[in-house]
Amino acid sequence: MYSEKVMDHFQNPRNVGEIEDASGVGTVGNAKCGDIMRMFLDIDENGIIREAKFKTFGCGAAVATSSMATELVKGKTIQEALQVTNKAVMEALDGLPPVKVHCSLLAEEAIHAALWDYAEKNHITIEGLQKPKNDISEGEEEEDY
Ligand code: FES
Repeated sequence: MYSEKVMDHFQNPRNVGEIEDASGVGTVGNAKCGDIMRMFLDIDENGIIREAKFKTFGCGAAVATSSMATELVKGKTIQEALQVTNKAVMEALDGLPPVKVHCSLLAEEAIHAALWDYAEKNHITIEGLQKPKNDISEGEEEEDY
């Protein structure tokens, strides 16, 4: 049912954790399954994503897609990171079963939510970026990461 790559990223997820003083942090949640994904991005002054980390409270496919998503955005420009769609993540994982496609959507939205936070913090507009509809980052500032 799952590709070897999905199993690998699920069993050995890359980039798990948090980035202290991250340039952008975004949290998204899927109301239907209740899964939550939080993405941390460290972006340098040239707009290159130096580091990406994630924490996912969710299913195996959500873990695997967030792991792959962090791998794909690392070293990329913000515009390139926007091309890391759920389709790109799924392709990099050699596919997902149809019932798990929404999990990869969460990964795409987590990237967008973190970039949205970065844009807000820096008072900039990122062309082509929209606030994800499942963004639940609001009011997290008080939280102790
Ligand atoms: Fe909800 Fe996978 S079942 S993200």
